[in-house]
Amino acid sequence: MSQWTIRRTGPFQGEIAPPGDKSISHRAAILGALASGETRVTNFLPSDDCQRTVQALKLLGRPVERISETELVIHGGELAEPQMSLDLGNSGTGMRLMAGILAGQPFLSILTGDASVRRRPMKRICDPLRKMGATILARTGDLAPLAIRGCGLQGIDHESPVASAQVKSCLLLAGLFAEGETAVTEPLLSRDHTERMLKSFGAQLTRDGLTVRLRPGSQLSGREVHVPGDISSAAFFVVGAIINPGSHLRLTNVGLNPTRTGILDALRQMGADMSIEDQHEVSGEPVGTLVVKACTLHGAEFGGEMIPRMVDEVPVLALAAAFAEGETVIRNAEELAVKESDRLSTVSDTLRAMGARVERTSDGLIIRGGAELHAASVQSFGDHRIAMMAAIAAKSVAGETQIEGTGCVATSFPDFRDLLEQATA
Ligand code: S3P
Repeated sequence: MSQWTIRRTGPFQGEIAPPGDKSISHRAAILGALASGETRVTNFLPSDDCQRTVQALKLLGRPVERISETELVIHGGELAEPQMSLDLGNSGTGMRLMAGILAGQPFLSILTGDASVRRRPMKRICDPLRKMGATILARTGDLAPLAIRGCGLQGIDHESPVASAQVKSCLLLAGLFAEGETAVTEPLLSRDHTERMLKSFGAQLTRDGLTVRLRPGSQLSGREVHVPGDISSAAFFVVGAIINPGSHLRLTNVGLNPTRTGILDALRQMGADMSIEDQHEVSGEPVGTLVVKACTLHGAEFGGEMIPRMVDEVPVLALAAAFAEGETVIRNAEELAVKESDRLSTVSDTLRAMGARVERTSDGLIIRGGAELHAASVQSFGDHRIAMMAAIAAKSVAGETQIEGTGCVATSFPDFRDLLEQATA
């Protein structure tokens, strides 16, 4: 179990490039394995979660060449029965997306993961995949490990009770192997990377409001994918720069897909001083440079469609709110309770240990800003985003903070600590 000792050094300054997007890296590897021909992926995120997906694809018989840390060439084609179980580690995305493609394969696959993934709800994918015709065995309550035997799937018209890109993507990927159309409707729009990438690989997809439809018989062809920088990773530095007086930070090549930019809208609503330069499109995704300066924030209320657009950034938004003047209320965020940890609890426990006034509600958080935060001994709860949120908090207060269990940061942002020290040197 690794531990970090962090103390405040200086304001956040200079220029950093956040690592490749985790969601897009998973999808590029998976679609590359299914598409005919070669798919070259650049700026791939070499994190534990994404490496697990690549490892699973290799065990399914697809060759993956590693050209460098961040560049892969995947040779796509038919999948073969794996001789051993596929261990997706800490990755809910890996587990749910892989379950979608495996539901369409005429062989047995066993999917497992770490203790956190084995606690996370899989019923939300098992039920619709079974309706499509897959045989899935799971632990009581449809918890992983999952044993999946696929067969001739039928398309489905699924109304998801939760706005979840993992559920939507799982079913669209299963739909690639189904007879008939697959349609998924969600209550609010979740990230649409799967839809964008499926289209660019040649699938026929249409969107009508909150419903996305995949036409049957789509043939995917390999291509080049350049992965944009991860806005969820960038968000830690954005908040660090805003709450540390004297900061002025540029973050280059940040993915700015509107289904992911809720955190920028939220911080602007709180008064943040941010601008975007050099906006352009790469591999069907908008990217740009974020320029952030320190400023005083004020409290605000968030809920509804904003939540899926910043679902992974709520921990760091809560930290920003602890530094703001006035009260911030976050509602409709009950999905946070079933992430890598129960983030409503782990965010409030961590910030409270550092002196913030935070209350966990049934579906969100109430943060009363203005209390002076201080160094403390905290733990990650095995959750990478809690560890990184605590590290940014530690850089923003007097004294020395100990964070225990920081190994989990490697699931999404292996270079986080180096970049943090670089930006605050
Ligand atoms: C992800 C979707 C989100 C997010 C996760 C990555 C994805 O989960 O929390 O970190 O890549 O599809 P849900 O959409 O299931 O809420």
